[in-house]
Amino acid sequence: MNMAVAPHRNNLKASIVVREKLDFKLDLHIPRYWYGNDAFMTRFWGGVFATFPEGERYFISSLRPFRDQVINSNLQQEMKDFMCQEGQHGLVHTEFNQILQEQGMPIDKLIHYQHRMFNFLLGCFSAKYNLAITAACEHITALMMECFFTKKDTMAHVDYRVRAMLAWHSIEEVEHKAVAFDVMNVVNVSYLTRVSAMLFLVFFFTIDSLRMTNYFLKADGFSFLQRMKLILGGISKLFGQDGMLAPMGKSFLKYFRRDFHPWQQPTLAHYQVWLDVYEQTGDPIAAGEAFHQAGK
Ligand SMILES: [Fe+2]
Ligand SMILES: [Fe+2]
Repeated sequence: MNMAVAPHRNNLKASIVVREKLDFKLDLHIPRYWYGNDAFMTRFWGGVFATFPEGERYFISSLRPFRDQVINSNLQQEMKDFMCQEGQHGLVHTEFNQILQEQGMPIDKLIHYQHRMFNFLLGCFSAKYNLAITAACEHITALMMECFFTKKDTMAHVDYRVRAMLAWHSIEEVEHKAVAFDVMNVVNVSYLTRVSAMLFLVFFFTIDSLRMTNYFLKADGFSFLQRMKLILGGISKLFGQDGMLAPMGKSFLKYFRRDFHPWQQPTLAHYQVWLDVYEQTGDPIAAGEAFHQAGK
């Protein structure tokens, strides 16, 4: 099957725009427990976000081998824009990582580990499998970002600068969510490869995120028992029936349908709010605030 261009795009305004040098005022005024003083949520998401710079370099590396196989000029341009957006995400999350490091988190060690892990994936798996892992990551990231901002309550107690950084990252993840998937279709990655990469990712992501949470909580000085209590309580906050990530369950499962395409998933209703406020003010913090306030 050769589907070079997104066939189900339901919002033509969600085109990929590369935005550079956005200032989120990320400095040491960010509180230590920036997720509403919640140690588990701060360290869980801090661990996930700490992966982004290396992860986003991996996404770029996994698309690069296929540049010459894509002949559709729209998709070629989208691949370039995808790489530029992910590059910018990496830069801003590196700034955020530096703050976590200065607040006592062992970021350097973590990045060293991630660097080796992503190189291992690139070296040991085929180019198509790495592309399928990237497409799976893009689906998960886009759904996760939607979970952050669909309901106002979810991010209500997060520091406003971190929230603005995530709002920008979220809208750009929505804009480029189909690029890796479209490349996967052009180079004929099989259905089996696509779904096995997703299963591999979910298993690995869950285990590794909780491992990093434990690592960060340990650096905070929590004892083993305190950490286990925080992690067990945190798992239900995330994955329980009313958990933060529960709304993404149905959309996640759609990835396993043979005829799935990322643009079948509707774009966040208030996506345009971020664009409008950013265009009017040039201020990504004001845009992030308006975007958050526009949630349900
Ligand atoms: Fe990203
Ligand atoms: Fe992405």
